[in-house]
Amino acid sequence: MKRQQLAESIGSYLSLIDEAEALIKGTAYEAVEHDLSTILDVLSPPPLDVDSIEGANLRVLEAMVATCTKCRLSEGRTKTVFGEGSVPARLMVIGEGPGSEEDKSGHVFVGRAGAYLDSWLKGIHLERGKGVYIANIVKCRPPNNRDPQGDERDACIPYLKRQIQLVKPQMILLLGRTAAQALLETEDGVGALRGRYHRWEGIPVVVTYHPAAVLRNTDTLRRPVWEDLKRVAAFLGIDLGRRS
Ligand code: URA
Repeated sequence: MKRQQLAESIGSYLSLIDEAEALIKGTAYEAVEHDLSTILDVLSPPPLDVDSIEGANLRVLEAMVATCTKCRLSEGRTKTVFGEGSVPARLMVIGEGPGSEEDKSGHVFVGRAGAYLDSWLKGIHLERGKGVYIANIVKCRPPNNRDPQGDERDACIPYLKRQIQLVKPQMILLLGRTAAQALLETEDGVGALRGRYHRWEGIPVVVTYHPAAVLRNTDTLRRPVWEDLKRVAAFLGIDLGRRS
């Protein structure tokens, strides 16, 4: 039955009840307009907007990403890289965007930086897929691994934001400047953002350097990254023993 017809039928039924009630009480009947939106939504749900990510679950969201053509990065991709891991997650790790290995495989952080990231997680007694979910700011590989441009980030980030809501992490770890600036909506660099807790929609966020950057500059960046990882462990209640 059409929503309008349903609204008319329920409306007349409720008026009849109001009228009967007035008759029983001996009071004058006054017609009132009832708000029927809730009952109508239950009995006859409005049609789903298939292009809207609101209300999408992870499976639907992944399917939307797989066919997305919202920005130019879709033109050069082999596979979209949606992200993967535990749901709900203790920790959600967010990088920048797929590299060539990820673009070929469709899996997140599988290259050299990914192996290094695994060693970081191991250092705080975590493992991908075991309480950890990993994703990126953009889901398609930028050409020659360049930074994703502002309009590409803007086009893609609604997917990530819905993904975070669905993954429900206790904490988020942002890897590198692109991830930090995009999610925290700031122009500050990693140096200024690391060393404290931020929040995204109430979820505590820690910022650290990107594993690829640390691989290029291990001597300088390894120690601050370890400090940031200890901050993550402390928040999650992970006992690291007496290690520095
Ligand atoms: N770098 C990223 O930021 N993400 C990946 O998935 C791989 C490398």
